[in-house]
This record gives sequence, structure tokens and C-alpha cells, in this order.
Amino acid sequence: MAMRSRPRRSAGHLYHLRLPRLLFLLPFALLLILLARLPALLRRANAHGRQCMPAATDRPIPFPHPVPDPRLSLAIVTLADEDAGGPGARRSFRGVLAASARNKRAYAAAHGYSLVALPASAVDPSRPPSWSKVLALRAHLRHHHWLFWNDADTLVTNPEIPLERILFSVIGHNNFVESPDLVLTEDFGGVNAGVFFIRRSKWSEKFLDTWWNQTSFIQFGSTRSGDNAALKHLIDHLSAEEMQEHVRIVKMQCLFNSYPWILTLKSVHRLIFHLPTTWKGVYSDGDFMIHFAGLDDKQGWTNKILRERENQR
Ligand SMILES: *[C@@H]1O[C@H](CO)[C@@H](O)[C@H](O)[C@H]1NC(C)=O
Repeated sequence: MAMRSRPRRSAGHLYHLRLPRLLFLLPFALLLILLARLPALLRRANAHGRQCMPAATDRPIPFPHPVPDPRLSLAIVTLADEDAGGPGARRSFRGVLAASARNKRAYAAAHGYSLVALPASAVDPSRPPSWSKVLALRAHLRHHHWLFWNDADTLVTNPEIPLERILFSVIGHNNFVESPDLVLTEDFGGVNAGVFFIRRSKWSEKFLDTWWNQTSFIQFGSTRSGDNAALKHLIDHLSAEEMQEHVRIVKMQCLFNSYPWILTLKSVHRLIFHLPTTWKGVYSDGDFMIHFAGLDDKQGWTNKILRERENQR
């Protein structure tokens, strides 16, 4: 009798041992399934109710006065330096520049904007190339009402949206003289110097000069060049009045500076601890512009997004 009951007891013992272990694994299994589905879920953030542009301004700009040509002169300014990443740079810009410039040229032509694609000769060799945006904007500010700076690792992904509509949604009116001078987005690190608008004004000229003068921020030999840190420093030290009058930091980063979401430890950490920031900035179908900020394979991403856009047509 004892011989027969022993195996039964041990089978029962085994059963009791396994179940809690499986239950323990269940949350991990669910987490893995969720993680695997996250990129696709975030790619559809707009379909899940996110609004990058306030609904009230999601329509053409009203023109209250029948002026002869109410349109402002806008220019997209971007750097076309083939060596922008430095020789053998980890975050290679090779090939990205040509594709990005083509994409911007098509968008600018469709809406009647100028495109200023700066050649390598426009880069000041005494600083990392990224700093030259300040010089370029300063040089072209007098020729246009608004300049729209684009880092080279950006693509227009929704060319239906005109720049005027983006500006109007931020400013709330289309009176150029009473407009703020600098329109920025914010990511996990604060204001981003990769994509922004700057208006022709005395204040903007002085701001760009001051930015260029922040020489203590210049950094060589890393993925950071210091221009973004200098911008952050300047913005942080403006008075409340000056901020109010001259600077707008948009509520939704995805209005014109969306970042693709890829599954890494860092991005999962940010998703958990900075969910609203992730949600506001993550690239979703329908967004105006994608920015491959901080991504290593910029070439691969550029090809992927352009291929997707081709297939949609
Ligand atoms: C920037 O630095 C130059 C040279 O030191 C100086 O002449 C100029 O006044 C400075 N501009 C601003 C706006 O700080």
C-alpha cells in the first residue's frame, strides 16, 4: 500500500510545485507580448486619439484682410555636408543627406517655399558641423519671413500639411509683426535644436549671435556637439517676460518633430517613467515630420520611411 501511495504523492507534490512557477512566469509572458506589440501600437498613436495639432486649427488659415499677397516668404534651411558625421562616424549621415534634400525639395516646391541646402563649404571647420546651423540661419534670416531649420536626419512624412498651418496652430493668429520669434519642440532632454522655426526680427538676430557666442559648450569627439546644450542654456536663462514675448515651446512634440520608437532598454525605461513625453513625441502615421534623433542607422531608417511613403501612393 505504501508503495502505491508514494508515487501519487510525489506526482501531487510536483504539480503543486509547478503551478506557482508558471504563475510567476505569466506576467513576464504578458510583458513580452506587450513589448513585441508596442512599436506597432505607438506607430498608430494618432489613430488611438492623439492630436498633434489642436483640432480648432486643423484647417486652412483664414485670411481676414484681402491684401494682394498675404503669403509670407518661408524657407527650409538644412545642411548638406556629406561629411557631417566625420569620417567613419558611428551615426553615419552618408546617403541620408541626398535623400533628405530630395524629400525637402519636393515638399518646398509643392508649397512654394524656398529650400536652402547648405553645401559643405558653408560649414565652419573650427566647430562640429552641427553648429553651422546658427551661422546659416543668421545669414539667411534677412531674405525670408520665417526660416524652418531641419537637421539632415529628418523627412517630411505628411506633405499635405503646410508650414503656415503649423505656425498658425502655435501662434493663434497670422499677424507676422506680433508673432513670437522662436518656435521649438521639447523632448526628454528639453528643447531640441534639430527642427525649429525662427522669424526675421532684431531679437532673432541677436539670439543667433548670442547662441554662436556660447563657445564654452563646443564639444568635439562625441555624438554631441554642444549646440543643443547651448540653446537649452540660453532658453533656461531667458526672463519670463522674454520667453512669453519671443519663444513658444509647443505642447505636442509631434507637431513637427516626431521620433521613431524602437525597442531598446532605454526607450522602455522612458516609456515607463516618461510616458507623456514619449506619447507626445513618438512618430505615428500621419505626422508631419520624422526625425531620426539619436539613432545609429539613419540610412536604414531613411530608406524604410521613404519606401513606406512610396507604397502608400
Ligand atoms: C558675440 O561675440 C562677438 C565677439 O566676441 C562680440 O563682438 C558680439 O558683440 C557678441 N554678440 C552677442 C550678441 O553677444
